[in-house]
Amino acid sequence: MKKIILDVDPGIDDSLAILLAAKSDLNIVGITVASGNVEVNQGSINAIKALEIAGRDIPVYKGAELPLVRDYVDATDTHGPDGLSGMNYKVKGKANDGAIDFILDTIKENPNEVTICALGPLTNLALAIEKDIETMRKVGRIVVMGGAAKIHGNCSPVAEYNFWVDPHAAKRFFKANLPNVTVAGLDVTYDILFSPNMREMVKQFGGEVAQYVYDITQFYVDFHWEQERTLGCIINDPLLVSYLIDESIMKAYPCNIDVETEDLCIGESVVGFDVPSDFDGDYPINAKMCMEVDKVKFFDVFFKTIFPEHVADYELMKKKGYILK
Ligand code: RIB
Ligand code: CA
Repeated sequence: MKKIILDVDPGIDDSLAILLAAKSDLNIVGITVASGNVEVNQGSINAIKALEIAGRDIPVYKGAELPLVRDYVDATDTHGPDGLSGMNYKVKGKANDGAIDFILDTIKENPNEVTICALGPLTNLALAIEKDIETMRKVGRIVVMGGAAKIHGNCSPVAEYNFWVDPHAAKRFFKANLPNVTVAGLDVTYDILFSPNMREMVKQFGGEVAQYVYDITQFYVDFHWEQERTLGCIINDPLLVSYLIDESIMKAYPCNIDVETEDLCIGESVVGFDVPSDFDGDYPINAKMCMEVDKVKFFDVFFKTIFPEHVADYELMKKKGYILK
């Protein structure tokens, strides 16, 4: 069974992704954290909280505190001061140090068997590549939440947060041309709207897991209303975990991805699906980019995995037309 490492920056949608993964049959062997939505120490606490809610004992490892080059810019305006809507949870568990070595050691011990699910800035992966690219080339596969191929960004007209906050790491990652890289960016995640009806259904489910999901999404829902008059919130990261559970949820296309590291378009993912052959190898096919998503299949996996005791309720809400309006 594939060994999976989640590389995250929790953050509300990362926490939902950790919850989904931890409640699924996926073999999660560890969680590595980098500064992103919040700084790495707070992000590690938030990762531990999601695992405690899921009732799982999976090791968490702290990684990069800062981007490779750029000044660090968090996303507490979107996720709340603590990264989880200001809930300021206290946790029993403690995070380890050594995220980069954990990634490299796990791949060394399990060549071609490790899947990395990268849901934050790519700083940890870029540092692992820098430290030991030969080991990183023995990774089984990498799925990445980040970028935008044909749709507007969320940090600038062209840049998505994970690539914008550390564009040098993203560029280094794609230049490494690692095997089996699949990227899901805003082109597909903008369709994943956790709607008011869904959030109310979760609240009515009751219980600790439901209350956690309801509580941590409040700040994110308010942000979406204030910033863009969206009702509900876009939950990007769980989509990548669902893809590991059911690959038919998204359709990906071979491409070359490179990332701009300066000036007006900093953090932009430049995605070439039909790379002209006269690019003389500077732009090889180095990834697949997801461009189609079946959101019904996603929410089926999301709700049935996190709330298995409420599958009948979920199916009834779908039948009544409350879901996916
Ligand atoms: O742009 C969305 C991505 O940036 C998500 O992974 C979110 O958690 C933030 O990390
Ligand atoms: Ca994230």
